[in-house]
Amino acid sequence: MPGRFDGRVALVTGAGAGIGRAIALRLADGGATVFGVDVDHEGLVETSKAASGMLITYRADLAEADACPAAVSACISRLGRLDVLGNVAGIYAAAHTPEMSRERYRRLMAVNLDAYFYLAQAAIPHLLEHGGNIVNIASNAGIQGIPYSAAYCMSKGGVIQLTRSLAVEYLKSPLRVNAIAPAGTNTDIAANAGFPADMDADLAGRMGGLRGLAEPEEVAALFAFLASDEARSVTGAVYTIDNGLTAS
Ligand SMILES: NC(=O)c1ccc[n+]([C@@H]2O[C@H](COP(=O)([O-])OP(=O)(O)OC[C@H]3O[C@@H](n4cnc5c(N)ncnc54)[C@H](O)[C@@H]3O)[C@@H](O)[C@H]2O)c1
Repeated sequence: MPGRFDGRVALVTGAGAGIGRAIALRLADGGATVFGVDVDHEGLVETSKAASGMLITYRADLAEADACPAAVSACISRLGRLDVLGNVAGIYAAAHTPEMSRERYRRLMAVNLDAYFYLAQAAIPHLLEHGGNIVNIASNAGIQGIPYSAAYCMSKGGVIQLTRSLAVEYLKSPLRVNAIAPAGTNTDIAANAGFPADMDADLAGRMGGLRGLAEPEEVAALFAFLASDEARSVTGAVYTIDNGLTAS
């Protein structure tokens, strides 16, 4: 049976773990050739081993601005085209706001927001050649405030506005740009977030939902829909997948 993404090339960042890995595997399973980008070489090897379809890995630290257009160029020179850009790589850094160092703040913004912009800039000319699309991973943190997470929330709010702005800028072209805003998803992202040991229990209690965590594969399924031709009329959208968290 032909795959949904046969003949298409997808560049997926954060492909070395969690949601990015699930997306890379899902697209490869659907017939795409996936160019999986991550800073974590070991993680990329694991993703590669798990892939049933065509998956090429590329190590890059996307916090370095020049690494973003370089990753797109490497994808084009290796595979000749680009149909889907999945901006997925992200980090969490929590702190009492006065205690957030500039270094942590700058790295968070570089990975979560600057890289999304630089990758989109480099990818758009190639995406326009084949009526491609961009799917950005935002977060419930881009929609609601989260304690000890001002910088993370700023970065994800920026991802939502990047999505809407690019969608509108390219309304007269076939290019589509959408975002997914997951909430708690079963990955390791929070492991090194550094939530303060003395955080207020009442405030911390407001962070979670009542229905538990989503699995990365659920986010990947939504991503695959948005990246496919079935979503040809969907652009500028921000789809939550958050167990009702931002509805309340
Ligand atoms: N897990 C959640 O609860 C959740 C909720 C909402 C949004 N998100 C978002 O989903 C996306 C994926 O997160 P995840 O939960 O899969 O986390 P994860 O930690 O499992 O995976 C993130 C991946 O990004 C990579 N990465 C980090 N910094 C990088 C850099 N400088 N250059 C290249 N790659 C880098 C990591 O190596 C890792 O493989 C992120 O944008 C995150 O903000 C996650």
